[in-house]
Amino acid sequence: MLTVETKKQVREAVTAARSRGLSIGLVPTMGYFHEGHLSLIRLSRSMSGYTVVSLFVNPAQFGPGEDFERYPRDLQRDAALAVSAGADLLFAPEPSEMYAPDASTYVIEEAVSAGLCGASRPGHFRGVATVVAKLFGIVEPDVAVFGRKDLQQLAVIQRMARDLDMRVRIVGAPIVREPDGLAMSSRNVYLTAEERARAPHFQRVLSGLAEQVRQAGPGRLADILDAARRRIETATGGRIDYLTAVDRDMAAVSQAGECMYIAAALFLGRTRLIDNVAVRPEEENV
Ligand code: PAF
Repeated sequence: MLTVETKKQVREAVTAARSRGLSIGLVPTMGYFHEGHLSLIRLSRSMSGYTVVSLFVNPAQFGPGEDFERYPRDLQRDAALAVSAGADLLFAPEPSEMYAPDASTYVIEEAVSAGLCGASRPGHFRGVATVVAKLFGIVEPDVAVFGRKDLQQLAVIQRMARDLDMRVRIVGAPIVREPDGLAMSSRNVYLTAEERARAPHFQRVLSGLAEQVRQAGPGRLADILDAARRRIETATGGRIDYLTAVDRDMAAVSQAGECMYIAAALFLGRTRLIDNVAVRPEEENV
C-alpha cells in the first residue's frame, strides 16, 4: 500500500489502476481506525478492484469549541491497519493541500441535514458535504463506502450525490459494535473508565425502544420517546442532545407507523456519542 499526501499523486495512482482495468472504491475517514473503519475498507475491497482510503481530519466540519484540536490522530498505526484490511492507497493530505487559502465554494444540502446533528452542530454537514464532494472529484470512485453509525451523514451524502448527478454509488455499511453493544467510534477514547462502563446503556435502551415502536402499531410516539430519554439519562449519567424518531429522509415523525429509524446523540461528560437503530431494517434505504 502506498501513502500519499497530494491530489496529484492520488490521480496518478487511480489513473494507473483504471488503466489496469480496475474499478475504484473510496473509503473517506478521519483516521484513528477501529474495527468499524476496517470493515468499510474490507467492504470496498469486496466491491472494487482498487481501494483508496482518505484520512483527513476535516477542519471545515468542526464548529467553534468542538474537538478538532484534540481529535485523536496516529498516522503510522492507521497505515498499518489500512494495509491489514486490504487498502491499496492511503491519501493523508494536509489542510493546505485540500483547501485553497481563498476557497469560497461549499456544498449545502438543505433538507436531510436540517434536523438531528445538523440542528445541534450548525455548519457541520456543509463541511462534510463539501469535503466529500472534493474527495469524489479527486478520486472519481465507482463506489464510496460510509458507516451507518453516521446515519444522517450517509443520507446527506446520498442526497448530494443524487441531486448533483455524481456518478458514484454510495454504499452504507452496518454499524460495528463493541461486545457490550457500544457503537465503535474514534471518540470513544475520550470516555473515562466510569463513562465507558455506563455507555452501553445508550444502545441497550435504543434497541429496546425500536422493539417497542415496532409493537406500538400506528400510535403516537411522544410518551415512549420521553420515557426512553429519561431511561438513557438515568442509566448513563449523561445528557440527551436529541432522541428522535425519523423517516427515511431524516425528518422527525410523531407516529410509530411512519418511523424508520430512531437516532440519538448523548453527551457523556465531554464526549458526544451518536447511535441509531433501524425500526424496519428490511426497508432500510440508506
Ligand atoms: O465520517 C467521517 O469520518 C467524516 O465525516 C468524513 C465522511 C470522512 C468526512 O470528513
